[in-house]
Amino acid sequence: MATTTPLTPAFAARIEGIDAARASKADVAFIREALIAHCVIVLPGQALDGDQQADFAAKFGQLDSYSQMSGDYARGMRKDLLQVSNLGEDGKPVAAGDRRRLLDMGNRFWHTDASFKAVPAHLSMLYGITVTSEGGETQFADMRAAWDSLDPDRRELVEGLVAEHSSTTARRALGFDDFDATNPAITGRVTHDLVRVLPETGRKTLYLSAHADHIVGMPKPAGRMLLAELTEHATGPGNVYTHTWHQGDLVIWDNRCSMHRSCRYRADRETRHFRRASTTAPEFAARTGSDISVPAWKIEAAA
Ligand code: OGA
Ligand code: MN
Repeated sequence: MATTTPLTPAFAARIEGIDAARASKADVAFIREALIAHCVIVLPGQALDGDQQADFAAKFGQLDSYSQMSGDYARGMRKDLLQVSNLGEDGKPVAAGDRRRLLDMGNRFWHTDASFKAVPAHLSMLYGITVTSEGGETQFADMRAAWDSLDPDRRELVEGLVAEHSSTTARRALGFDDFDATNPAITGRVTHDLVRVLPETGRKTLYLSAHADHIVGMPKPAGRMLLAELTEHATGPGNVYTHTWHQGDLVIWDNRCSMHRSCRYRADRETRHFRRASTTAPEFAARTGSDISVPAWKIEAAA
């Protein structure tokens, strides 16, 4: 019998009594229901090799693929798994100046996974193989509650606005500027509505990410300030669950109604070795067409 224990009153829960490597249809249905209610689910005490993790994730939807990503992120696994790790090919922690370690710092910005793709991520499933003794937590923010708690005038402002997302935005913020201009997976830009409706519940959610570059149709500084302000609002202390990892945790989050970030740890002293699989969210596909106009009052109100 699986049991669900909420980790905060309205966001994130732990489920015990399910073995992800042998998940039945009923187990999958149970987790799906719990994700709709809680957005973030922790399954402790799992033992999963890569194939088992991918097979489990595939029971929830189409797996996202990382094959078109740059060499920086293709890390010697199946194309539908991503290594989130400070270990190099030789099994030792990579050096402080290593490009990969610096690129991984992008995960420390609040973000939703793959919001820069035309079909972004739905569920992400991160499995803790080797965890840190200090630091290295993952934090999650409830984007349904972020919408609910927004002032009515801000709601009116953001509803209908569209953000342009790109995989280079967070990297530029870190100081990278050497992008492969011939790789559309790197330079591609997509647009997503800032306010989305979750099909399962009809609840509204703010769709933000460190990959959101600017607001279409608004002066860039005004749009960026609005994105920063909304992100600050969404990630206030009352709206965040902080997950401290134990070896064997499988943490599943719904990218459509949460943002997340990783926390600092001593990567020179500790090993943090995780593996991720994600499913895709075709119902959250990017907008097509370029018929986006912003009323003048919104530009005035945001600037
Ligand atoms: C990710 C991610 C955060 C972490 O894998 O998508 O953002 O704490 N990870 O490693
Ligand atoms: Mn992420």
